[in-house]
Amino acid sequence: MTDQTRPGRLAGRTALITGASRGIGRAIARSFAAEGAHLFLTATNMAKLTETRGLCADAGVELHCHGANVADADAVAALFDAAVSWRDGLDIVVNNAGIYIGKPFVDYELAELDQVMKVNVYAVFQLTQLAVKHMLGRGGGKIVNIASTAGKWESPNQAVYNTSKHAVVGLTRCAALETAAQGININAICPGFVSTGMFDGLHDTAEALGVPVEELQQQVVSRVPMGRLVTGDEVGHLAVYLASEESDGMTGQSIPISGGMRMG
Ligand SMILES: NC(=O)c1ccc[n+]([C@@H]2O[C@H](COP(=O)([O-])OP(=O)(O)OC[C@H]3O[C@@H](n4cnc5c(N)ncnc54)[C@H](OP(=O)(O)O)[C@@H]3O)[C@@H](O)[C@H]2O)c1
Repeated sequence: MTDQTRPGRLAGRTALITGASRGIGRAIARSFAAEGAHLFLTATNMAKLTETRGLCADAGVELHCHGANVADADAVAALFDAAVSWRDGLDIVVNNAGIYIGKPFVDYELAELDQVMKVNVYAVFQLTQLAVKHMLGRGGGKIVNIASTAGKWESPNQAVYNTSKHAVVGLTRCAALETAAQGININAICPGFVSTGMFDGLHDTAEALGVPVEELQQQVVSRVPMGRLVTGDEVGHLAVYLASEESDGMTGQSIPISGGMRMG
């Protein structure tokens, strides 16, 4: 399972990372590559995914890009098969791809709930299930689901997103409970506000609320005790820990990384 000739906390392990074309997924890819993991990277935007591969190239690990829309269950099944075939097995799966639609609760269309649930929940459920079946046959593995503080608490004007992220926390706990004795660790990361395209994309929410986006972003940052956004790299470092043997004693947890927002 591990190639001990390479240095690094993930030396020689093979990891699948979804949503690796930008933002947190790209940062996780860079952190994993720096720790010696070989990476099967996936997203829909192949140009951006190729950019991520370029940013990881210096690490000297093997890198593969695969285009797939995770809202499509057949594409998810095909991408998992391709990831397993690539280096004859997977040690780590990071479910990071996610989307956000923000607006007042009463304004959501059911189609928007469907759209968000397909990417944020169905794909995570399916990939976690496929990964568990695969890892049971290999004596273990690590699954890291990127949830959100929105998966543990309430927040204004994002009921659909919070619903989806609460589901990720729930499926992480249940899958972890049933696999805890089989050497599989399944944990979730709950970022607060992270400086990515998703944060910049608060435009739609601002428009729905009729406030300037800068004002909304300022309101958001003012809720963070550290007075700043979390960085993608900081999430990447936590993901490395959860993907490495350092976290072998931990499963079913949903860990906030939020600049001090929502302590407890
Ligand atoms: N930014 C934050 O403040 C924050 C806070 C808490 C949690 N999170 C969570 O962190 C994760 C990453 O967010 P981010 O901030 O990095 O967002 P982002 O910059 O918008 O990136 C989202 C990633 O997901 C991929 N993706 C979206 N829909 C997809 C689909 N249908 N099929 C395949 N890939 C898809 C995108 O790739 P393509 O566009 O190439 O398809 C992209 O790589 C998400 O799960 C998000 O909910 C973010």
